[in-house]
Amino acid sequence: MSKPTLSKVVVPAAGLGTRFLPFSKVVPKEMLPIVDKPAVQYIAEEAVAAGAKQMLLVTSRNKESMEDHFDMAFELEAVLRGRKKESELEMLSKLSKLIEVASVRQQQPLGLGHAVLCAKPWVGDEPIGVMLPDDLLEAPTPCMRSLWECFARFGHSMGVVALMEVPWEKTHQYGIVSAERVEEGVVRIRSIVEKPPSNPPSNLAVIGRYMLPPTLFGELEKTGRGAGGEIQLTDALARMVDAPGLLGYLFKGRRFDTGDKLGFLEANVAYALKRPELRAPFLAYLRQLLETEST
Ligand code: G1P
Repeated sequence: MSKPTLSKVVVPAAGLGTRFLPFSKVVPKEMLPIVDKPAVQYIAEEAVAAGAKQMLLVTSRNKESMEDHFDMAFELEAVLRGRKKESELEMLSKLSKLIEVASVRQQQPLGLGHAVLCAKPWVGDEPIGVMLPDDLLEAPTPCMRSLWECFARFGHSMGVVALMEVPWEKTHQYGIVSAERVEEGVVRIRSIVEKPPSNPPSNLAVIGRYMLPPTLFGELEKTGRGAGGEIQLTDALARMVDAPGLLGYLFKGRRFDTGDKLGFLEANVAYALKRPELRAPFLAYLRQLLETEST
């Protein structure tokens, strides 16, 4: 039998993006640029680094530009060819071959669990990666790849979610777990709760990357409305804690919440500083800015 690989990732991107109005009135918030690439492209690149071949965008109205972004732009490429803009052409050609993109509409805003359930016919009987596009994760080994490796090492049946410690006062914004250590960097989750209003079981939060067996869909179908009146992915995961089991991978890297204004600005600064051509002049600008702002 051939070795199973991660093939499909699901990216729930149907949200209205109200925190980014007026920008998000017409343009999906997943298209916000981090330096010069839209946020959703970083997600696709992380998926590819984990071995994924196909990405399903779960979308809603006015989100077509996300699909256009990954498609071939025939006219644009013809113009670039005419102008002999070779490097831009190569960049666009790589982008349209990066990953096979499909989309499905989430017709009602019934929550993250419902969005993932919309992917069921596309996924079939395969394990899936779920990647929330607001979470931009930076690490030497891309997070989704680490989740896949953990999922494979523990036998392809237990789910694996990425976890990170968050400040206690922010636990009400996340899925929070209680867990026991299995080995360096991996825990077995004993309970998981969505956005606990008080008494969180820990400050270990789920950070938007999941590697799940196809049994997830059966659990989602049994899940009723939870926090915020929505069908929560976290509640379906809670049903998997005893069987088949749920592991936590402790993410060691930097996380940016690009769905939040401050997180979006921080991501732009951090990713600009990673660009060799921008680093020196941008650092000089930041230093000068700090000086003038602190006087
Ligand atoms: C979602 C999940 C939550 C998770 C968070 C990570 O919440 O429901 O469990 O901790 O993403 O970013 P949202 O941020 O969409 O409200």
